[in-house]
Amino acid sequence: MKLTIEDVRSRFIKHFDGSTGSVYASPGRINLIGEHTDYNNGFVFPGAVEQGMIAELKVNGTRNVRAYSIDLKDYVEFSLDCEKGPNATWARYIYGVCREMMALGVPVEGFNTAFAGDVPLGAGMSSSAALESTYAYALNDMFGDNKIERLELARVGQRTEHKYIGVNCGIMDQAISCLGKAGNLMRMDCRSGEIAYFPWNPKGYQLVLVNSCVKHELKGSPYNERRLQCEHVAEVIAQNHPEVKSLRDANYDMLEEVKDQITADEYKRARYVIGEVVRVLTVCDALEKGDYETVGQMMYETHFGLSKEYEVSCEELDFLNEIAKEEGVTGSRIMGGGFGGCTINLIADELVDNFKKVVVEKFEAKYGKKPVIIDVVIGDGARKLC
Ligand code: GLA
Repeated sequence: MKLTIEDVRSRFIKHFDGSTGSVYASPGRINLIGEHTDYNNGFVFPGAVEQGMIAELKVNGTRNVRAYSIDLKDYVEFSLDCEKGPNATWARYIYGVCREMMALGVPVEGFNTAFAGDVPLGAGMSSSAALESTYAYALNDMFGDNKIERLELARVGQRTEHKYIGVNCGIMDQAISCLGKAGNLMRMDCRSGEIAYFPWNPKGYQLVLVNSCVKHELKGSPYNERRLQCEHVAEVIAQNHPEVKSLRDANYDMLEEVKDQITADEYKRARYVIGEVVRVLTVCDALEKGDYETVGQMMYETHFGLSKEYEVSCEELDFLNEIAKEEGVTGSRIMGGGFGGCTINLIADELVDNFKKVVVEKFEAKYGKKPVIIDVVIGDGARKLC
C-alpha cells in the first residue's frame, strides 16, 4: 500500500507533543543499466520510483535529535554534538546526515522526527539512500536556507554511507534520490557529475521489477571488496597508461596487457566494468532511436556479466533471469548492488500479464515462496510535502 503523509503525521503526533512539523520525502530508485559503474567513475542510468521515505521533523529547542522509526517501532535519542553516534543502524543514517550537514556549515538544531518508508528493504531499490536524501533535503530546507545544491546533498548521503555505515558506495543512489524527475530517467556521468534527463515513455513496453525477496545488505557484503579490486586493476593499468584514472578510462586491450599482474578474479571484475561502461552509452543511443530490442539485449548482457564476471548474483536471481528469457521478455537483469533483491524486466505490453503469472508460479514451485511483482512508475526526487 502506498505510504501517505497521514501515515507518518499520525505517528508523529502520537509519539511527540501533539504538534506537527514539516514533512519531506525522497524516493528509492530503479536503474535501467550501469551497475557498479558509479564508483568506477563511469555512467549510470537510474530513475526515481514512487516508493520512498517520508519523514516529519520539528525543532525541539535542544541539541538532541529524538527519532522514531515507525516501521521498526524503535526510538533513539542522540546528541548532535556527540562524536560517537547511536548504535542502531537506522539512526546512524540520520546522525551521519546531521553531522555531514553541520560539517558543511549548516547550523542544524535539535529536532523531533518520525519516519516510515514503502521501498521494500533489501530489494536493491536503495531504501537507505532514500532515508539519507530525505534528511539531507529536510535539514537544508529547515536550517540551511536551501543553499546546498542537490548534488551536494547526494554527496552528504554518500559520505554518510562511507563514514557511519561502512559501505563505500558510489553516488548513483543518492544522486537519483535527490535529483530524480517524474517521467524521466537520468543519465549521470559519475566523474564530472554531468546529468542528462531522458523522458521515459516506452511505447509498447513496460518496466516490471521482480523481487526475489532474497534480502541483500551491502554492509558486510563483498561490495567493498569489489570496489577495491576495480581500483587495483586501474592502478596496475595506469603504470603503462597514466591517462587511466579509473576503469572508466580502460579498454579490453589494456586489460589484456596486465592480465598476468592481477588475479583471475580481478580480471573478471574489470572485464565486466569495461563492458558495462560501454553498454550504458549503447542503451542511450538505442533509446533515442526507440530501439528497445537493443536496450533489452544490453540488459541481458549486463546480467550475464554481473552473474559470471562480477559474481554478485545468486541462484534465485539467475532463475528469474532464465524465466524472463523463456517467456520472451525483451530485457532482464539483476538490479542494484546484487547479492539478492530484484530483477528489472523490460517487457512488451502484450506479454506483461502472462509473465507476471508465470514468474510467480515457477518461482514458487522451486523455492516455496512467491516473488513480489512491482510495477515501475518513475517519480520525483527529494521534496517537501507540507
Ligand atoms: C549500490 C550502491 C551504488 C551502486 C550500486 C551498483 O546500490 O549504493 O552506489 O554501486 O550498488 O550499481
